[in-house]
Order: sequence, then C-alpha cells, then structure tokens
Amino acid sequence: MKQTPETAFSHRHLLGIEGLSPIDITTILDLAGGYVDQSRRVHKTSDLLNGLTVINLFFENSTRTRTSFEAAAKRLGADVINMTVAASSIKKGETLIDTAMTLNAMHPDVLVVRHGNSGAVRLLSEKVDGAVINAGDGRHEHPTQALLDALTIRRRLGKIGGLTVAICGDVAHSRVARSNIQLLQTMGARVRLIAPPTLLPAKAERFGVEVFTDMREGLQDVDIVMMLRLQLERMQGAFVPSVREYFRFFGLDREKLSYAKPDALVMHPGPMNRGVEIDSELADDIDRSLIREQVEMGVAIRMACLDLLTRPLRETGAP
Ligand code: NCD
Repeated sequence: MKQTPETAFSHRHLLGIEGLSPIDITTILDLAGGYVDQSRRVHKTSDLLNGLTVINLFFENSTRTRTSFEAAAKRLGADVINMTVAASSIKKGETLIDTAMTLNAMHPDVLVVRHGNSGAVRLLSEKVDGAVINAGDGRHEHPTQALLDALTIRRRLGKIGGLTVAICGDVAHSRVARSNIQLLQTMGARVRLIAPPTLLPAKAERFGVEVFTDMREGLQDVDIVMMLRLQLERMQGAFVPSVREYFRFFGLDREKLSYAKPDALVMHPGPMNRGVEIDSELADDIDRSLIREQVEMGVAIRMACLDLLTRPLRETGAP
C-alpha cells in the first residue's frame, strides 16, 4: 500500500527531533496547517480527542509551552490536567519515577513532560503506558519548539531546504538550538552557530554546522536569524562579562541584522530578554520579526502532535 503522509507517522512518543525522518516532519507540518485554520475560527474546539486525558507534567517553569499544550489539547476536546512540580521539591530520579507511576495509574493517554535533566523524559517514557511528548529536557531537546519554528519558516518562505539559518547566542545551554539544528539539517537547510566561545558547546563543529564567534561574519547571506535567550538559570559562573557588553557584541539590533540578507527574518523562542540578546523595537517589528507567529504556530504544532500520537488509540476504538 502506498503510504500517504497522513498514515506514515509511526512513533509512539515524541522525545526529540532525532529519529524523525523528513517525511515524519513534513507529516506534522502539513497536519498543523489545518490546525492553524481551526485556531483562527471563532469556534475553535473539535471533538477529536473526546474522552482522552492529557496530563501536562512540568518540573520546570514555563508559560508559553505549558499554555500552548493546554490550549492545543482543549481545542481537540481532550480533558487536560496540569501538574507543575516546584523544582526545589523534587529529588531527581527517584521522585520522577514515583510521580510517573502515580500519574500512570490515572491512565493518561498523553503525558507532556518538561524536566531540567537531559534524558529524564525518555526515562519516564519507558515507565508509562501512554504516549509521551518531550516539552523540553535539560539542554537536550525541545522538539515541538523546532517543529513550530519550521512551520513558521515554511509558511513565510515556502520552504526550509536551501535556506541558511544562523542560531545565535547561548547555544551551550539551549535545547531549542539542539532540536533546531537537527530539524533544519534533516530538511536540507544550512545551519550556522554564532556565539562567544564560552556559550558554544564543546566541539560545536561535530553537529555539522559552521561556527562563528563574530556576528558580522556569521550573519553574511543568512535568511533567518534565530536568537536565543541567555539562560542564566543554567549557568554556573560567569559566561559573559556583563549584559551590556553581551548586547554590544551579540545582541541583535538593526545594525547587526543589516549584515544578513536584506530581507532576513528574525526569530526567538521566548521568553525574550529585551535589550540583552535582542533589541526591543526590532523584536516587535512585524516586517522582520516572526516572534508572534511562532507562538501562534506553537498551538497548531502541538495539536498536530496530539492528533498523530493518539491515532493508534482512536483507530483501534479501544473501550
Ligand atoms: C525555551 C525553553 O524553555 O527551552 N522556551 C520555550 O520553550 N518557549 C527557551 C528558553 O527558555 O529560553
């Protein structure tokens, strides 16, 4: 049987971009397109996931990702339970598994999990019965962010393959960067990293990217400039001399953006430190900045992921 993109997705969980094929990614993006339309209607809710339970389990702070998953699940008619665990009250591994087992006993169909430790979400996925979506684990992966970024780019520029994308700033601590590098390369884009040496991962070239420590050089001929937040909560010690100096050399303003292609577009996963990694006025410039569209695409991408991962359940019609 010829597989249409609609039937090609065969993953039980969404733990990372690693392991997704170009067809998997295209399937998610295509499906999300319809959910953008649904989300723009006055009546936004369908009954696709009626009777299913989605639990959002967040061990780290989050505003937009958690809200976005909640909106996505509700728009598809699922029951949603939000559980936010204060980071200080968890004793890492043991508590994670205990929590997972407790929640598993409540028979969630999907668990959306964010955790401060890289690998924690995979560990949890091995212990529970439902589908697990990684909403960010440590500095490892944040697959739905990369997917929403890809949808934003594809809708604006009509393609991903052949583009040059610069990911700038705190790459060392960023799961968004890791997921985006994988996705963009899988879809045929060229990726550059631009950061001070202290904020680059060790041996960054191993990711198959070009590495720059100077914005002027790195931004030449770039189509998309993705800025990253300085993740102060993941830093121990001084990675940058001062915030002012950081902005001077690595903060994106109009002057630095002028080194890129004339119509280059700006992205940021949020939350933004205005005046630290990005000039506030540029962030709000609707001609150059895709930041608001990224948030909108986030809900649609999460709807698509929830739809695809629950298909086996819905198709068997289990009681
Ligand atoms: C990112 C995250 O949590 O990894 N934010 C997000 O999901 N919108 C990036 C960040 O926190 O800087």
